Amino acid sequence: MSGVATAILISGRGSNMRALVEAAKADGFPARIALVLSNRADAAGLDFAREQGIETLVVSHRDYDSREEFDAVIDAALREKGIELVCLAGFMRILGAAFVDSWQDRMINIHPSLLPAFKGLQTHERVLESGVRITGCTVHFVRAQMDDGPIVAQAAVPVLSGDTPETLAARVLEAEHTVYPKALALVAGAKVRVVGENVLADEIDADCRMMVVG
Ligand code: GRF
Repeated sequence: MSGVATAILISGRGSNMRALVEAAKADGFPARIALVLSNRADAAGLDFAREQGIETLVVSHRDYDSREEFDAVIDAALREKGIELVCLAGFMRILGAAFVDSWQDRMINIHPSLLPAFKGLQTHERVLESGVRITGCTVHFVRAQMDDGPIVAQAAVPVLSGDTPETLAARVLEAEHTVYPKALALVAGAKVRVVGENVLADEIDADCRMMVVG
């Protein structure tokens, strides 16, 4: 198998990881999922990764006294396994600045809102409280600030009357499963480049960076 050696970091369900793994099976997909790493041994997504024959690793944050030590162990594991690109997919630990800097422009994350709006947790609750009629999801390069960094791709999703945080989360999640594989393909295929705080693509690839779902 060829392609950019990619690790996916998860903490739970792992549905985005699953979408990335499925997408990466396609002929010519520019990334190869070489490792799924979780900070929790009970992350449901690990079972799927194992069934797929993907190497898995658990690094529990509880085993380390500081964030720096935890980050260093993850960093060493990624390097030892020859990982070139990291995808955060529901990874619920904040990574320190040293780790983030050393993976600058080689680590992407998905967040369930149209960043820079609604950073942080309880996203869908806050979206509903705010009254916005359109939300979505964003794949971005990771920077030291949470949910911040150059935007690779976004999908827009309608907020419907009667939505609850759960129904909205489900609609956004479906879009996440489409947009994350597309974003990974763009990054691993070197179709986009970071220039300052922005991500640039040529004209054709730029179309793949924006989706409207629903
Ligand atoms: C997703 O909504 C993602 O945007 C957020 O965490 C959730 C992870 O879900 N960062 P899953 O584990 O990929 O199913």
